[in-house]
Amino acid sequence: MSERTAAMILGTGSEVSGRVLTNADLEKMVDTSDQWIRERTGIERRHILEEGKATSDLAAGAGLKAIEDAGLTPEDIDLIIIATITPDTSFPSTGCRVQTKIGADNAAAMDISAACSGFIYGLSLANAMIANGQVRYVLVAGAEVLSRITDWEDRGTCVLFGDGAGAAVLGPSDGKKGILSTYIKSDGKLGHLLELPGGGSLNPATEETVRQRLHYIKMEGGDIYKHAVRSMKEAAIEGLKRAHCKPEELDLLITHQANIRIIEALQARLKTPDEKVFINIQEYGNTSAASIPIAMDQARREGRLKDGHKCLLSAFGGGFTWGSALIQF
Ligand code: ACO
Repeated sequence: MSERTAAMILGTGSEVSGRVLTNADLEKMVDTSDQWIRERTGIERRHILEEGKATSDLAAGAGLKAIEDAGLTPEDIDLIIIATITPDTSFPSTGCRVQTKIGADNAAAMDISAACSGFIYGLSLANAMIANGQVRYVLVAGAEVLSRITDWEDRGTCVLFGDGAGAAVLGPSDGKKGILSTYIKSDGKLGHLLELPGGGSLNPATEETVRQRLHYIKMEGGDIYKHAVRSMKEAAIEGLKRAHCKPEELDLLITHQANIRIIEALQARLKTPDEKVFINIQEYGNTSAASIPIAMDQARREGRLKDGHKCLLSAFGGGFTWGSALIQF
């Protein structure tokens, strides 16, 4: 363990809700096939949140489970960080909404916008704030309702995304477990390759922006694929280097679940054996900031991630943003 290890993960939780949308369902909506989606992405089904519910509902559900798993109560939480690109509203923040929903009355709350890398950004910030003594217990969640910004007439994107939330509670390290390294990076020059053009101060909602379908995700899939593999590899290697850890010392690799081919390409570059790579994209699709914490929680519940294990998280997303976190469980 590094002498500088300050924070550890005390508990995890995840929440998906609503109906399951299968590839067969999508075949009836756009010109696609179950075979194409499975072969190109690895996705078989995804969850679509029920109407009337929002990102804060999923984040609150995942957050309460993580707080319980940590053996804490909501009043113990000093800071709530919600990573999302689908906030309930521009403001108040989804973090503030989650605070109210879970009764974390003693916390400060905020959102982070770093797309699919948001949970790693949140972990990095929480780790630093615990390290400098500003806070003791932090709830970090990645939560998305991507179905609300998905163009259900665009087969190039609508087959990819799903809704869900995952969360972790961080607190001071016990000297055995802890966050061994974090690494975050961005390249704003490439932001136009993956964006939601409408609804902000640049293109506020008008009849014209709605007509032009600017309130849906726009994506250059091929370009993103190449950058995702390269950047997640860089993040993984840098994260290991910062903790003086060799790739073969890893017990589990959890990457952002964007596309099974991206995960397999990264796995091949890092030479990580199959049994050390966690994949659940078939069940949930790409849930952006939620994908890593959902996978981490599932891996713990299934016994793939146990006390004593070293786990590397690696993400890439819109912005572009990327990063990694190496965690000793
Ligand atoms: N069903 C059937 N055919 C389709 C579909 C679909 N859903 N979507 C596209 N096609 C067609 C295309 O029109 C194209 O047809 P053409 O050859 O007649 O022009 C053909 O399939 C091949 O299209 P490509 O875009 O070249 O397919 P590719 O193998 O690159 O796969 C994909 C596309 C899955 C989007 C891939 O590029 C990818 O995964 N990119 C990464 C993007 C990503 O994961 N984005 C998520 C957000 S970013 C993130 O989370 C990191």
